[in-house]
Amino acid sequence: ILTITPKTQEQVDILRNISSHYEVEVGFSSTSPCSPLFIFRLSINSSCAIRVGAFDNEVCVYFRVLLANANELIEMQTMNSTTDPRSGSTFYERYHSLDDIYHWINKTRQDNPDTVEAILIGSSYEKRPLYALKLSLNNSMNKKAMWIDCGIHAREWIAPAFCLWFVQYALSFYKLNQEITDIMDNMDVYILPVMNPDGYHYTWATNRMWRKNRSVSKSSKCIGVDLNRNFDANWCTEGASHEPCTEIYCGAFPESEPESQAVANFLRSHKDSVQLYLSMHSYSQMLLFPYSCTLDEAENHNDLLEMVQEAAQLIRRHYRNIYKYGSGSKTIYLAPGGSDDWAYNLGIKYSFTFELQDRGRYGFLLPPSHISRACNEALIAVKTIALKVIKKT
Ligand code: ARG
Ligand code: ZN
Repeated sequence: ILTITPKTQEQVDILRNISSHYEVEVGFSSTSPCSPLFIFRLSINSSCAIRVGAFDNEVCVYFRVLLANANELIEMQTMNSTTDPRSGSTFYERYHSLDDIYHWINKTRQDNPDTVEAILIGSSYEKRPLYALKLSLNNSMNKKAMWIDCGIHAREWIAPAFCLWFVQYALSFYKLNQEITDIMDNMDVYILPVMNPDGYHYTWATNRMWRKNRSVSKSSKCIGVDLNRNFDANWCTEGASHEPCTEIYCGAFPESEPESQAVANFLRSHKDSVQLYLSMHSYSQMLLFPYSCTLDEAENHNDLLEMVQEAAQLIRRHYRNIYKYGSGSKTIYLAPGGSDDWAYNLGIKYSFTFELQDRGRYGFLLPPSHISRACNEALIAVKTIALKVIKKT
């Protein structure tokens, strides 16, 4: 994995161009959509090596190796440590293949028949089921609810790991930890562990750096729509693209993709109970709220700001780790068509996108040994915000 800072428009154009070669993956920095750029090269073959070498000398002066052992890291993350008794990590401290996650969903439901339900909310482009778990730990009537989705972007593996972590935590610490008990007594939780199963499977099988879903476009040979640009919130304006070969392709029309449509349909039919919407991403350590699709402030901006500020302070105090916070458009960049903005406009006034660890050292390749800290940090933020929502409503 190389990092390159283009200095001229010509260099930017060349970098944009090489992203259409399938053996080279160009990722845009999360803080600026244009520069610096991250070049991920996965399959090392000689012709590609020469091209990158030539390109290094001739065009891009500033070129740094960010991770020299990316392939090794990837291999370690896909190793199934259940077969390796030396590793002391638990199930939740490892990354899991899509098949493993489907098994986990089924087992969690079977082991907790009174409190956990698996709801089929739709299916993916390649016809994989989209299961949301419903956790209902206290059977009082007319409870409010929160929604958490993970893995809208395929390569952000820490996100699905968080969804699994959260379920395990809620089930184990209900009645033991005061905060999670208060939350679960007042809210049902809907959790979609892998919102983009086709993309997630593709990151395990073929290309670890894949972001979008896997839908085939009518107009182009390039595959995939950025599901977080496919919602109906200033759809495909600045910060998204109509070009299918880009990483931020918005799709043919809002909710053109079965994955975004499934989530939107579910939330539309549950909008009276769902008061809190959370979407888990990585990386860059940020707690974001609407809007991302416009520079305008949300009507309850100060409320939202106060919530993420307290969450970030607690993370800092407990883990000495820094999370930035603020509205999406002002903290990272304009990014229309996102699920958080759409949910907010639907009426879910507490709507957030979390960018989990790290800040770029490993980026999407966060080693499994970091899962527990990353998830515990995010858990503090979720608990803090959920408790505040309960108080306010
Ligand atoms: N990194 C995320 C993305 O580019 C940020 C999401 C923030 N929210 C949003 N609606 N764009 O998709
Ligand atoms: Zn993301």
